[in-house]
Amino acid sequence: MTQDELKQEVARAAIQYVVENEIIGVGTGSTANFFIDELAKMKDKIKGAVASSEATAARLRAHGIAVLDLNDVTSMPVYIDGADEVTHQGAMIKGGGAALTREKIVASVASKFVCIADGSKLVDLLGKFPLPVEVIPMAHAVVARKLAELGGEPRLRLKDGQPLLTDNGNVIIDVHGLQIADPLGMEAAINNIVGVVTVGLFAKQGADICLLGTPEGVKTLS
Ligand code: 5RP
Repeated sequence: MTQDELKQEVARAAIQYVVENEIIGVGTGSTANFFIDELAKMKDKIKGAVASSEATAARLRAHGIAVLDLNDVTSMPVYIDGADEVTHQGAMIKGGGAALTREKIVASVASKFVCIADGSKLVDLLGKFPLPVEVIPMAHAVVARKLAELGGEPRLRLKDGQPLLTDNGNVIIDVHGLQIADPLGMEAAINNIVGVVTVGLFAKQGADICLLGTPEGVKTLS
């Protein structure tokens, strides 16, 4: 099976976690996109969705799914999203698609985070995937120096030779070469750097359930 087929497989399996007549939080990325396509098949059974990025909002709307403003939503039972790396304990690196801040915000309102990923994302130790950190543009140099003190190699994410701008108008620093043995401690340490908006470590609030697509079928970690 290809990686896309594995992503599609978990996206299909995630539908069972969608609560009927409720609002669903929807993540960003290729796995989340497969999930949105599946969600469209049952769109009349949900109240609507809260999107974690402009791209996700556009895809939801294209399917005729109502996109709700998070400011009008006080609770939602489930948030469903992909990950760049996930541990057996549910700690994740996210933000490969630069949507980490809105992902963390929407996830914080949901009662349950269901992570959907192909099996290659499961790791024993986080950090092989460069850790994304969203940063206020004027602070990227000072924040990069502080991130280097934590042992990694910070690189400003570029697009077409220019700093990539997030949906929030900020930049992303990807920290290469980290070995994150203490995800909770690292998340707190990076959150404490002035100029950081969000770190793409989801440890304090990790995945409650993780569906992994494998050639042998979908495996569930909880
Ligand atoms: C976007 C994310 C994605 O969930 C993560 O990058 C995984 O993406 P994909 O499903 O395309 O592998 O965090 O900011």
